[in-house]
Formats: sequence, C-alpha cells, structure tokens
Amino acid sequence: MPALVLLGAQWGDEGKGKATDLLGGSVDYVVRYQGGNNAGHTVVVGDQKYALHLLPSGILSPGCTPVIGNGVVVDPSVLFSELNGLNDRGVDTSKLLISGNAHIITPYNVTVDKVTERFLGKRKIGTTGRGIGPTYADKINRVGIRIQDLYDESILTQKVEAALDGKNQLLTKVFNRRAIEVGQVVEELLGYADRLKPYVADTVLVLNQALEQDKVVLFEGGQGTLLDIDHGTYPFVTSSNPTAGGACTGAGVGPTKISRVIGILKAYTTRVGSGPFPTELFDEDGDALRRIGGERGVTTGRDRRCGWFDAVIARYATRVNGLTDFFLTKLDVLTGWEQIPVCVAYEIDGRRVEELPYSQTDFHHAKPVYEYLPGWSEDITKAKSFSDLPKNAQDYVRALEEMSGAPISAIGVGPGRDETIEINSFL
Ligand code: GDP
Ligand code: IMO
Ligand code: MG
Repeated sequence: MPALVLLGAQWGDEGKGKATDLLGGSVDYVVRYQGGNNAGHTVVVGDQKYALHLLPSGILSPGCTPVIGNGVVVDPSVLFSELNGLNDRGVDTSKLLISGNAHIITPYNVTVDKVTERFLGKRKIGTTGRGIGPTYADKINRVGIRIQDLYDESILTQKVEAALDGKNQLLTKVFNRRAIEVGQVVEELLGYADRLKPYVADTVLVLNQALEQDKVVLFEGGQGTLLDIDHGTYPFVTSSNPTAGGACTGAGVGPTKISRVIGILKAYTTRVGSGPFPTELFDEDGDALRRIGGERGVTTGRDRRCGWFDAVIARYATRVNGLTDFFLTKLDVLTGWEQIPVCVAYEIDGRRVEELPYSQTDFHHAKPVYEYLPGWSEDITKAKSFSDLPKNAQDYVRALEEMSGAPISAIGVGPGRDETIEINSFL
C-alpha cells in the first residue's frame, strides 16, 4: 500500500513543493487534498523556477497524474491561468484530474474574504484574500457550489441564489457594499464549464483503484500543521485540515491505506499573517534569516516572519500527524552563525512547559527556552551525503531529530531538486 502523505510541520512554506517534486518522478499520482490557491509551492528544476498555487507539484513530472481532490477549493480562473502559464512553458497538463465534488471559490467568496478582513481591522487573520475561508464556510453551511454543479444550469442557479440570499444582506447592510447579482455569477461560472469538463473525474474511485493496483500515491498538503483549523493556532489558521487525517477526507482514501506520513520541517521557523509565534525574531538575526532564506510569500509577496527552530512545535506535529519521517529543509540557510539557538521548551508564566499548551492564552504567553548549538561556516550546498556535512551541522540535525520525535530521512541544502541529502528512502 504505497500511499504517502507529505505535509507541512510548521506554519507553511516549509518546502513542500520541492519535496513533492523530488518524489514526483517515482510516484504515479500526486494529490492535493485541501486548501486552494492560498498555497504557493516553489519548484526549482535546473534553471527553471515554477510557482504552483492550486496544481499539485507532481504536474512537473511527466509520468505522474496530478489530482485535485474533493477537499480542495478551486478558483477556476486561477486554475486556467496556472494551466496556461505551464502550457506556455511546454509543460503537459493534460493528465490533470479534478474531483467533481471539489467546491468552487466564487467571486463573491473572494469579495467576502476581503471585506471581512478589512472589517476585522487590527484583529484580522491576515488571510491571502483568495476566498478560502468563505468558500469552506459555504461548504459547511451547505450552500457551497461544487464543480459538478456547473453541468446542471437549473441546479446551479438555485444554489447560487441560496448562497447569495444571506450574503447580499450582509454585503449591503453590514459591509455597505453593492449586492451581487445571481445571473451574473451563474453566467461567469457556466463560462468555465466546457474547459473544465475533460478534467472532471470520480477521483475517489480512481485513487482507490490505483492503490488496489499497488500504484504509488502521494498526498501533498497545502499550508501546515499549525495552520490547521482543528489543530493549529486557531483562529489564526486556514479553514481546512492540512494535518494527515485531512488527506483521508480530502481525497476519499481510508486511513488504513496510508503507509507513511512525512513532515516537511524547515531548519528554522517562518510564518505569514497574524497569530502567535514564540520564536519570532525582531532583530538582525530575523532579517538575516529572511534575506538568506528568501523568505517572501509566493502567493501574496508579503515578507515572512522569521524565527529560530521550535522543537515544541515539531514534537506536536509528530503527534497530531503520526509522522513517520521528517524532511528537514533549508539547512544551508543556517550556515555562518557561530551558534544557533533552538527552542526546546516554553516558559509560561514562570513554568517550564515541554509540550504545546492547548490553551490559546498560554500559547500567547509562551516564551522560548533556548539551547545553543554550535554553528558551522563551511558551504554545505554541494553536500550529497550526511557524512559530507561538517560535524556541527550533523550534530544540529541529530539534535533536532532527537527533540522532534521522528527520524530525519532527507535534508535540503538548496532549492534545486539535486540539492538534497537522502538518508532513508521514502519509497
Ligand atoms: P511550500 O509552500 O512548502 O512549498 O514552500 P515555498 O515554496 O512557499 O517556500 C520554500 C522556499 O524555499 C522556496 O523558495 C523553495 O525554492 C526554497 N527551498 C526549498 N528547500 C530548500 C532548501 O533546502 N534550501 C534552500 N536554500 N531553499 C529551499
Ligand atoms: P503553503 O502551502 C503560509 C496563512 C495566511 C493566513 C492564514 C489564513 O504555501 O505553505 P487563508 O487565505 O488560508 O484563509 O489565510 O493562513 N496561509 C499560509 N501561510 N503558507 C501557505 O501555504 C499559506 N496558506 C495560507 O497567511 O495567516
Ligand atoms: Mg508556500
């Protein structure tokens, strides 16, 4: 049963795109199971750089079938522009499959996302403004529009009416905006139907049949564990489940089928948007991590908040996802520090706390307790095996592994496909 889940172990942007692409050449299907075009996954192949938002990173591997599962929210205009961009660069996208049950990000969901954030003022979540939250809210409220609805105009019209009923009240009376017309939305959505049609499939059946035939399926998470709606730093989270269980619901595959869960873990920590972040740095070290690590959002272009590695979070990710392995990324970025602080526990109101507190108030008060590990100055970007790393870099990796509760099976030493040290094979 070669079904692997690959997900973010921190607050997103850990390097999931690179890791997925690396495995893409050896797997048959790569499946996105949650989120939407809030994601920004960077893949570097030779001198070519790709920024993927909605499409699974397996789309760049010719033998691999990319799948957008039922748990994903799809903005068709973004999908088409991403497909066009890849086609223009000679990438074959014809194998893409999209679940007919995936929900559509409608233009009014994008509007509601933006006006809600503005209304929240300084309490805003700092969303990507892509309509993610309102689309999942509609899904849960049972007024969502699914891809399959595009193929029955009368049903589509009824559903858009139902969705807009309450929203127009909100837009006009609370947000002081113009009402949105049902007919206009229906017309826009129907305009996507023909081009989408060849991709729409019963992806649950396809994936389960593939697993029965011993094909290799890789589930690629968007966002990260601490952005999970249930297990993250609520309310400063995204509106879906990037954690491992989300792969089952978001793709229609049972938990007994999953053989491996790989957490992508940055050698330090970043976060975009609002919310608590105990190891965040506001000094020149934070600026240096941002500069050397190129920590700027792929989707929104916002500077990422940067801080030291947090082992409390890594342990938590191991637990809530049942991680079997870590893929440690961006170790090269830490080259040049004399010593590297690593957060091993928190101090909360005078107490030492080893595990992530379940209370939001406690987490907001958490101060990092640091251990200082010796750094290295040698260039590690050419390292091909663990033994090529300087001793202090090896010790840093081993220390993180011990603190984090799962083996580190691969290490990223640069953005390119081949800038990776493989320790244990994933397949
Ligand atoms: P994702 O959202 O998890 O796919 O991550 P992003 O693509 O948003 O951000 C990760 C960034 O780090 C991208 O610019 C990658 O090209 C880059 N990257 C990934 N792995 C490594 C690594 O091991 N070293 C360095 N220097 N960059 C990396
Ligand atoms: P990838 O897949 C980092 C953050 C936003 C915001 C919160 C909610 O590239 O790791 P949303 O638009 O989802 O409602 O915003 O989640 N966020 C991400 N941060 N990487 C991402 O994706 C993110 N997707 C959403 O910044 O704080
Ligand atoms: Mg990203």
